[in-house]
Amino acid sequence: MGYTYHVPTGRNPFCNEVIEWESSEVFELIANKRVMKILIATEKPFAPKAVAGIREVFDAAGYEVVLLEKYSDKSELLAAVADVDGLIIRSDKVTAEVLAAAEQLKIVVRAGAGYDNVDLEAASERGVVVMNTPGQNSNAVAELALGMMIYMSRNQFTPGTGFELQGKSVGIHAYGNVGRLVARKAKAMGMEVMAYDPFVKDDAVFEADGVKKVESVEELYSNADFLSLHIPATAQTKGSIGYKLLMSMPKGATLVNTARKEVMDECGLQAALSERTDLKYVTDIAPDSAEELAKIAGKRFFATPKKMGAETAEANINAAVAAARQIVDFLENGNTRFQVNK
Ligand code: 3PG
Repeated sequence: MGYTYHVPTGRNPFCNEVIEWESSEVFELIANKRVMKILIATEKPFAPKAVAGIREVFDAAGYEVVLLEKYSDKSELLAAVADVDGLIIRSDKVTAEVLAAAEQLKIVVRAGAGYDNVDLEAASERGVVVMNTPGQNSNAVAELALGMMIYMSRNQFTPGTGFELQGKSVGIHAYGNVGRLVARKAKAMGMEVMAYDPFVKDDAVFEADGVKKVESVEELYSNADFLSLHIPATAQTKGSIGYKLLMSMPKGATLVNTARKEVMDECGLQAALSERTDLKYVTDIAPDSAEELAKIAGKRFFATPKKMGAETAEANINAAVAAARQIVDFLENGNTRFQVNK
């Protein structure tokens, strides 16, 4: 790409007429600059307005955009990443194999909060920067958590008597962006809110929301009529929520999981739901043992058919546009503020 841009370098001293021309340095810079190519790879597509928002950001930067949506085979992703400089994903898996296939790749932005779908180590080894867009889709997830509480307290909208959220207690496991929004919305519903998060050291964070800070995960579960899970899936948290914690919950309690299925010990979950016929489990991430759980718990168990916490136009637009802006800011200015593989 490029166009010839000449500057006058010599003039006739008698009439000021240009007698010598030369290609300018500016022209050289423009001509040599590669156009950045960005791939949006979303097995679960963004809302069209979010894609339009991404395009607007990259058009302004002079970047090329390629869209790969609803792909069903890994080979499609492997082929699409071959010559791209940047990648925007959702829960799409960016493995060592994908990174190896992306020789030009400089940055991956997970448009969302959790980045357990990206092999951070492999990315770091290749010098690829990985970012997320914290907070951008949190409200959608928090609203779903509250909606799930209502859905389960009204017996999955089956005719019959249910119960209200008002006056019930809710325990928030991890007080990050989503947890805080669930807390505030639950307070507005008249619920008693407590939270556990050993990473939030400043008590003022809980106090500002009128939330009771509890000191242990055991204290949280044993007092929560509703337990809203917001921990990420890490080596430490995987399989950490199981039989013991569930069995300690009050009579009629509901565990709400809008976080990750991997944090559950599904074997323990099955045992708890089978022994305690008052317990409920509702999740936005279908468990591997969904069929068994449905048999054991009937209407006390519900899983969305496909993760939909962040499936709102607003969340898509916020996260997608933030991802695009972060890519431009990194490629143009080196801004690594949201990097997660430092
Ligand atoms: C997140 O981590 O941001 C949420 O789990 C949303 O994931 P999604 O973009 O795949 O819907």
